[in-house]
Amino acid sequence: KKPIWLDCDPGHDDAFAIILAAYHPSLELIGISTVVGNQTLDRTTQNAYKVAYIAGLSNNIPIIPGCGESLCQHVVTCPEIHGQTGLDGADIPEHPEYKTLIKQQDENYLWNIYQKIISVGRPVTLIATGQLTNIALLLKVFPQIKNSLSEIVLMGGCIGIGNMQPGSEFNFMNDPDAAHIVFTSPHVPRLVMVPLELTHTVCATPNVSERLRSLASPFSSILDHLLHFFASTYKQIYHFDSPPLHDPCAIAYVADKDLFEGQMMHVDIERTSEFCRGRSVCDVFDKHRKEKNCFVVMKIKEVEQFWNMMLDAIELADKK
Ligand code: BDR
Ligand code: CA
Repeated sequence: KKPIWLDCDPGHDDAFAIILAAYHPSLELIGISTVVGNQTLDRTTQNAYKVAYIAGLSNNIPIIPGCGESLCQHVVTCPEIHGQTGLDGADIPEHPEYKTLIKQQDENYLWNIYQKIISVGRPVTLIATGQLTNIALLLKVFPQIKNSLSEIVLMGGCIGIGNMQPGSEFNFMNDPDAAHIVFTSPHVPRLVMVPLELTHTVCATPNVSERLRSLASPFSSILDHLLHFFASTYKQIYHFDSPPLHDPCAIAYVADKDLFEGQMMHVDIERTSEFCRGRSVCDVFDKHRKEKNCFVVMKIKEVEQFWNMMLDAIELADKK
């Protein structure tokens, strides 16, 4: 099994990413860290605990609250898509040990994440489905982490159309300086970006909801309600017929690379422009002849296979 660490900001799609990361048979989830983004750090952390609880994750998988702010700009959260709690739409029970576990957390979160990753003893895949603040800090403070990583896989960015600004995606725009650090760091063994172009093809259609409902359990009903809420906000804000489930696509890529197509290219992160701050400038045609620093995932061959994978993971979690 491939050891993975998930840095996330749950978040509806992050919640599904946690489930897939924990229950895909070829992955071993060794820990979760949280970051501000879809909601405040307190809420994304509490949500990560809630999801871990309802999905039956072992308490041996640590959940470490990371950074609650962006490196050089004010924090922006996303209640218009994820609601005031960050996981609106379902009544999710609190993790019974949340208060005890959270009290045991100290301020040395970076050190703790680093320690957990290096103690695995095998190269770990770091997956980030939120803004890149924790990842950038890790690379700056513990550059030697490179020796313990096999790759960093990010859900974020776009080749063309953005969702936060016309040309900028939410996770990158929320901390462009952090994204810039990650894309220019010499301490990343391999960098993979799963952009909006890919995730917008993986939408939770009514058929997906039907499959979920057919599991007929309290757990599947919570997930169904979450999807329902996510569908309604995506319809209202972006006029999507069905909501794109961005974050689990990054997990699916790590679990089954053959399911995806993409190419190496140079990607720059724009940090100063008035209209394009946070934009991932993807040099698809190698116009700048710069070093190809990122594998950009551009196509999923069989969307149905993704949903089979996702629903299998949900079924396994349900039995826990
Ligand atoms: C990304 O933004 C967040 O709202 C989602 O969780 C996803 O990670 C998509 O742009
Ligand atoms: Ca996310």
